[in-house]
Amino acid sequence: MDAKVISLLANKPDTLNGRLQVLHECLRQSLPQTKQSSCLLYDEKTDLLKKFLSSHHFTNGGYDECIHLKSNQALFTLCQQEEGKLVSFDTDDSIWRHFQQDPDSVTAFIIPIKQAQRFIGFVCFETEFLAENLNDTAINTLILYAQFISMMINEEFSLVNTLLATVRAARDFTDFRDFETGLHLDRMACYARIIATHLAKKHRLSDEFIEHMYLFARLHDIGKIGISDSILNKPGRLDDAERSIMKTHVSKGVDMLEQVLQDYNLVDMRDTDMMRNIVACHHEYIDGSGYPKGLKGDDIPLEARIATVADIFDALTCHRPYKKPWPLEDAIAELEKMQQANKLDAECVAAVRENKAEFEKIMKELSDDKK
Ligand SMILES: [Fe+2]
Ligand SMILES: [Fe+2]
Repeated sequence: MDAKVISLLANKPDTLNGRLQVLHECLRQSLPQTKQSSCLLYDEKTDLLKKFLSSHHFTNGGYDECIHLKSNQALFTLCQQEEGKLVSFDTDDSIWRHFQQDPDSVTAFIIPIKQAQRFIGFVCFETEFLAENLNDTAINTLILYAQFISMMINEEFSLVNTLLATVRAARDFTDFRDFETGLHLDRMACYARIIATHLAKKHRLSDEFIEHMYLFARLHDIGKIGISDSILNKPGRLDDAERSIMKTHVSKGVDMLEQVLQDYNLVDMRDTDMMRNIVACHHEYIDGSGYPKGLKGDDIPLEARIATVADIFDALTCHRPYKKPWPLEDAIAELEKMQQANKLDAECVAAVRENKAEFEKIMKELSDDKK
């Protein structure tokens, strides 16, 4: 069975979700009663548990909202354990229904997944089995598949962590002090995720896309490591020559990303396009007046349009060497002005307006003053 899984995976489905579907099909050969395999991810900063992957399109009956892990005793207990829990959807606490993707599932086996001892989420297998029919052999098979799934997720996350750690190490080594200090990257990633979630229905974005948006948005400015300290930290506006040097952070970032992907043998790794697009296009404007390529409209990938709006929103609302933080309403008004001037994506800007309470919450929770 293991050899079969490995050979199916060797076909390299493009996305994590694609690989989960392959694993799910293999699992069904041993346990045809398994109806769905899915995965929920945990975000420590916000304490939210969110669905991330599913072997099928989500068909659940409205149980797709996030769950606060710490506010739920049963989930909180399970996340601290090593073993899984067998849940009957009929009789057990309604909290477990958040895991149910297929309305016909009777039971689920839910297993916490960890990365270096840290809880990162749950894998859930829904089955047609009644709890009493799920014997030890079946449970061991489910545990084995949960391990495959968690390995697959860990592989993906360690790529981004490697990239971020490389940048951080280089920065420490050269004593660079990023002028976008503090929690800029954390806030910007949260804003990008809110916008992506808002656009999900219309653009048919998967949960995987949304989570990758959150993960990869942090990389947008990795090229700034190649810009000198005197320009990065200049306590005033840049002159023309300095500005053109600053603009090279985009091509430097793309080169750096390629180099790291090559060094770690990840050039063909799935989902790296999204990473590249964010780094390469986060300064492009809808009317073609951005840089470095002057791309227009839909030629700018959606992930980059989202990152641009999230990045500018944070730049406006936080302290910079040359400016004070803008209030929320003023920042949204500025984004709208830029959108009317055909610089920013209209849907992304509308997403900020329509989710302003959530944006405000992130501004407060991840404020640099709190560090
Ligand atoms: Fe940038
Ligand atoms: Fe930025």
